Amino acid sequence: MKIFLDTANITEIKRAVELGLIDGVTTNPTLLSKEGREPVSQLREIIKLVHGPVNAEVVSPDADDMVKDAKPLSKLGKNVVIKIPMCEQGLIAVRRLAEQGIKTNVTLIFSSSQALLAAKAGASYVSPFVGRIDDISGNGMELIQEIVTIFDNYLFKTEIIVASIRHPVHFVQSAMIGAHIATVPFNVLERLMKHPLTDRGIDAFNKDWEKLKNALKSKPH
Ligand code: G3P
Repeated sequence: MKIFLDTANITEIKRAVELGLIDGVTTNPTLLSKEGREPVSQLREIIKLVHGPVNAEVVSPDADDMVKDAKPLSKLGKNVVIKIPMCEQGLIAVRRLAEQGIKTNVTLIFSSSQALLAAKAGASYVSPFVGRIDDISGNGMELIQEIVTIFDNYLFKTEIIVASIRHPVHFVQSAMIGAHIATVPFNVLERLMKHPLTDRGIDAFNKDWEKLKNALKSKPH
């Protein structure tokens, strides 16, 4: 499973790139607004740091403007993917962009019918939001299972990006179901590496090693 980082924060992206685990980055208007900088220059900096796909979202309400806004964004780098919100106009824009060879990621997917239509429209990626479904007492991971089954049934090439991941269990379940990509916030990436028994084990090994070194030091030669 590929791992994307769900952030527009440069420090987080640099740290994740250094780890060598990041296959791409997803941004959205909320994540970019958190950084408080001019979004295009922020995106330029992200694109320089990341080799894989960098997702940048358009916010216009109609297809003509979505396509118009997508063009300069797609020219920022070969790895730019245009995020399009799931709606009727969005699907029209996806079809037009696909015809021009521009990759899209249909975002704000909350049902498998939406995912199927986005794939048929020519989306390169779909982003179902699992955490937001769980927030309203639904089951986000059931949606991922449905989309994986549907895409397998019809051999769609569209990749599934599990988005709105809130904790490591979402990540592991995504991998078990066979989603192509999980996009994770930096704090989840950090938690994926951690286990209290690992920390306790390292601590015990270090203490025992010190004990042995001290015992050898005080032993007469
Ligand atoms: O990339 C968008 C998505 O991951 C948003 O997550 O936590 O705002 O539901 P969240």
